[in-house]
Amino acid sequence: MPPTAPAQPRNRLFVALDLPDGLRARLAAAGARVAADAGGRAVPPENLHMTLAFLGEVPPEPAGQLAERLGDLASAAAARVRIGAVVARPSPRRARLVAVELLDVDGALRDIAARVLRACADAIPDRGDDGRAFWPHVTVARFSRPGDVRGFPPVAHEHVFDITRASLYDSHICPGRPPRYEALKEVTLDDSFAERSPQHG
Ligand code: 2AM
Repeated sequence: MPPTAPAQPRNRLFVALDLPDGLRARLAAAGARVAADAGGRAVPPENLHMTLAFLGEVPPEPAGQLAERLGDLASAAAARVRIGAVVARPSPRRARLVAVELLDVDGALRDIAARVLRACADAIPDRGDDGRAFWPHVTVARFSRPGDVRGFPPVAHEHVFDITRASLYDSHICPGRPPRYEALKEVTLDDSFAERSPQHG
């Protein structure tokens, strides 16, 4: 039998916002509650993030260009967010995932997302736009079989959280375990908050 071809190096790239500890803890608690009540798998606290762009497999050269272009995010204002609604997809009765939406307090989140999409389009022009509307959310639980999460209580409250870092990740799939996210590039956003309203929490 001929030898099997060596596996191609694969990557599964995505760009995400990293969450501050206070926000991460609240979202992790929500995921744990969903999992306990409805039988899904909570996303482990270290894996919680807000996805800005999912790129999948990207060859090394454009991946390097993307990492370089993402460096420009250092001049983007850090995002100021509040916790929004709990949303189940495709439906609360037969959920495959439960996410918590993030509310864009002063528009910085939308600006970061637009910059990231531009960086992706510049670095990987043949990928095209996936046409999805911007949906700022953090997935907190997933279900292998549809779960019933009707009646899950809201987690919204008045705190405002500052998100000050964006990262390019490679997601390593680990069978039977949560994926391991390897940070290929981390960018600290401009958190000077000059000319912006004071933080509430
Ligand atoms: P989401 O669950 O927050 O929507 C890393 O895998 C991240 O990329 C996931 O958290 C997921 O974001 C997003 N992702 C994974 N596979 C995807 C796909 N096929 N299309 C779009 N986004 C995907």
